[in-house]
Amino acid sequence: MHMKNYALITGASSGIGLEIAKNLAGKGYNLILTARRKELLESLAKEITDKNSIHVDLISMDLSKYEAPEEIFEFCQSKNYQVDLLVNNAGYGIKTSFHNTSIEDEENFIRVLGTSVVMLTKLFIPNMIKNGGGKIMIVSSVASFAAPSAIQPLYGPIKTFMNRFSDSININYKHKGITSTSVCPGFTVTGFHTASGVQEQMDRVPKFMVFSAERIAKEAVDATLAGKSLCVPTKTYKFLVFMLKNLPQSVLRLIGTGLAPGRYDRN
Ligand SMILES: NC(=O)c1ccc[n+]([C@@H]2O[C@H](COP(=O)([O-])OP(=O)(O)OC[C@H]3O[C@@H](n4cnc5c(N)ncnc54)[C@H](OP(=O)(O)O)[C@@H]3O)[C@@H](O)[C@H]2O)c1
Repeated sequence: MHMKNYALITGASSGIGLEIAKNLAGKGYNLILTARRKELLESLAKEITDKNSIHVDLISMDLSKYEAPEEIFEFCQSKNYQVDLLVNNAGYGIKTSFHNTSIEDEENFIRVLGTSVVMLTKLFIPNMIKNGGGKIMIVSSVASFAAPSAIQPLYGPIKTFMNRFSDSININYKHKGITSTSVCPGFTVTGFHTASGVQEQMDRVPKFMVFSAERIAKEAVDATLAGKSLCVPTKTYKFLVFMLKNLPQSVLRLIGTGLAPGRYDRN
């Protein structure tokens, strides 16, 4: 029976989440994959089990629905899966200007990138405590350190919230053997930019600032398993984050307009 060592990954059907799943499969973790696209998850689960002798299960769920985190948790409980590693990765961006979105658009966004992360973490922590420890990964972004972007007023602030939440988990649960790692990638080749309607802006980002999802996932998994509190993958972005933390906002805005053209487009 597969009763031990499951990793639950949200947003596992594409991009960084999928590469995290593949990386963990290679390390012998059993997996629970979740995202909305069920058929895609099914074929990915098959692809992963064909290559690794692990157990992979999946649950299709829309994290913008209030009850989704509890349904995912109940699914794991009913199957007796012991989740030692929770990867909160699902996310997207909103291209439409803030004043043109609906309240529901913004609520869903906060739920997928924020509330569901808090809820899933809350639901799985008691079992981790019972089992003597666990690891949590929250896929945040370099945007959490940057000045908020004009086209996505909530994206950076929610990621900042996630970093701080991750810090809180560390402070409160490290003595119980639980660590939380906030992973802050920069531009990564995934389905994100197409899904968020900003692929054109992504194509204008200088190539030296764009990395593969596989590379980001590897650094993210290594840091999480090592119990690091913060992971900024690649030297390029470590340097950028150092600057973001130390240069005045006025200078950063000028640099940001050059390096991330999409951030200040008007529409
Ligand atoms: N790509 C970048 O440049 C970049 C940079 C920094 C941070 N990030 C962060 O990295 C994380 C992963 O994004 P990615 O770049 O890998 O993008 P991606 O390829 O578009 O993957 C996003 C994943 O989230 C899932 N998802 C989206 N909305 C969902 C919902 N309502 N309910 C459940 N699942 C949902 C998608 O699955 P379904 O569509 O099947 O539901 C997909 O598996 C995000 O948190 C993003 O903010 C990305």
